[in-house]
Amino acid sequence: MAAWQSGFYKLSVAQRQQLIQQQLNLSQEEVEQLQAHTSFWSSQMIENYLTNFEIPEGVALNFVINGREYTVPMVTEEPSVIAAASHAAKIVSQSGGFVAPTSSRQMIGQIVLENIDDFEQTKTWLLSHQTELIKVANDSHPSMLARGAGAKSLRIRQLDEFVALELLIDVGEAMGANVVNTMSEAVKAWLLNQGYEVVTAILTNLATESLQTATCEIPVANLGENGSTVAKQIAKLSHLAQIDPYRATTHNKGIMNGIDAAVIASGNDWRAIESGSHAYAVQDGQYRGLAKWTVGDKQLFGTITLPLPVGVVGGSIGIVPTVKLNQTISKIKTASELAQVIASVGLAQNLAALKALASEGIQAGHMRLQYRALAIQIGAQATEVNLLVERLSKLSRVDQQIAIQELAVMRGK
Ligand code: HMG
Repeated sequence: MAAWQSGFYKLSVAQRQQLIQQQLNLSQEEVEQLQAHTSFWSSQMIENYLTNFEIPEGVALNFVINGREYTVPMVTEEPSVIAAASHAAKIVSQSGGFVAPTSSRQMIGQIVLENIDDFEQTKTWLLSHQTELIKVANDSHPSMLARGAGAKSLRIRQLDEFVALELLIDVGEAMGANVVNTMSEAVKAWLLNQGYEVVTAILTNLATESLQTATCEIPVANLGENGSTVAKQIAKLSHLAQIDPYRATTHNKGIMNGIDAAVIASGNDWRAIESGSHAYAVQDGQYRGLAKWTVGDKQLFGTITLPLPVGVVGGSIGIVPTVKLNQTISKIKTASELAQVIASVGLAQNLAALKALASEGIQAGHMRLQYRALAIQIGAQATEVNLLVERLSKLSRVDQQIAIQELAVMRGK
């Protein structure tokens, strides 16, 4: 390992940028790029901090959820995602909007025991000490109990030669990872004192006690002049995602386009949502689509259910300035409401994708919105982008070479 890397974390941000410049031969312009995008709060959040990486933020419009209108901040680098969510939300709003019930919001802390001779005897003993175990957990985080939250119950599962004691914890308005881990470690210490051998004590991100559902009903007439045909195609694509993991993966990627963007904008841990969602998608042993669509003679019915353990306080939420701003934009006040909105965004994202696949194909709408990014990519100036996109939209085929030629023609070369 190069000597300069040892102790890197002890340097100031400016010293780190200078050292990186020297060791990795950055130009003066490149190091100025590092220096141009820093902030104090970011330097306090991660290790070996150098600079901020900017990802665009937009808002998805037209959302009506449980009778309320929402403007949803979304952070994404992918063109057409926000347009798609807004488009679908506009269609759904014409028939009352999304319905997303308030769901239970408990996280699961896993304490895994090993070298257990008799599972049933161990299970009986642990359950007979449930009150004590719950108290140990709550004593480790008294503020949760004071708010009426905290550890509520436990369950025991046999995992081959291991035994998992699982705490079900109401984490209030937070996502709760730290609370769950603190409580799990307190119970681990107590069990060690009782002579048990503990392999691990940590939350699970398969948050099956924090499932959120969103549904919508759309008159097929609202899907355009071929609404009935489009609705049937959407239902067929949905069925395909239930029977084929290859299709289900892309179906769910489309859903996560919206979910990740809304989760990031809300300051929550999108990796936790991603891992939990995909684990939930394979709950019955086969990976399937998280959203489903069925069609009656007049209505298209959509539903999505996935684990959404998100919070409106705690973690980076209180640190990242734009998260507070996004809470003002969205007017979301509680973790439960946030989960309802995010699930609805996921269902909207899926509707837009399947509607496009069922009609003009994904490229028509998607690519048109890619032209802006393509224009920047080939060096168009801000004042040239609109005209270049207009010219590209008129062509039957567009690629980077064609865009470069069009730009040259625009510049009179
Ligand atoms: P359109 O029919 O041309 O839209 O669709 P429109 O002009 O009729 O506008 C309708 C509404 O859409 C607008 O309402 C906006 O809300 C929104 P209005 O403001 O006019 O009252 N909208 C826009 N919002 C912001 N910026 C825009 C914009 N254009 C329309 N520029 C659209 C165009 C792109 C919306 C449509 O073609 C679409 O939804 N396509 C799907 C695109 C998509 O799914 N993108 C995600 C990336 S592709 C992917 O990775 C997922 C996938 O692989 C998943 C899967 O396979 O299942 C496809």
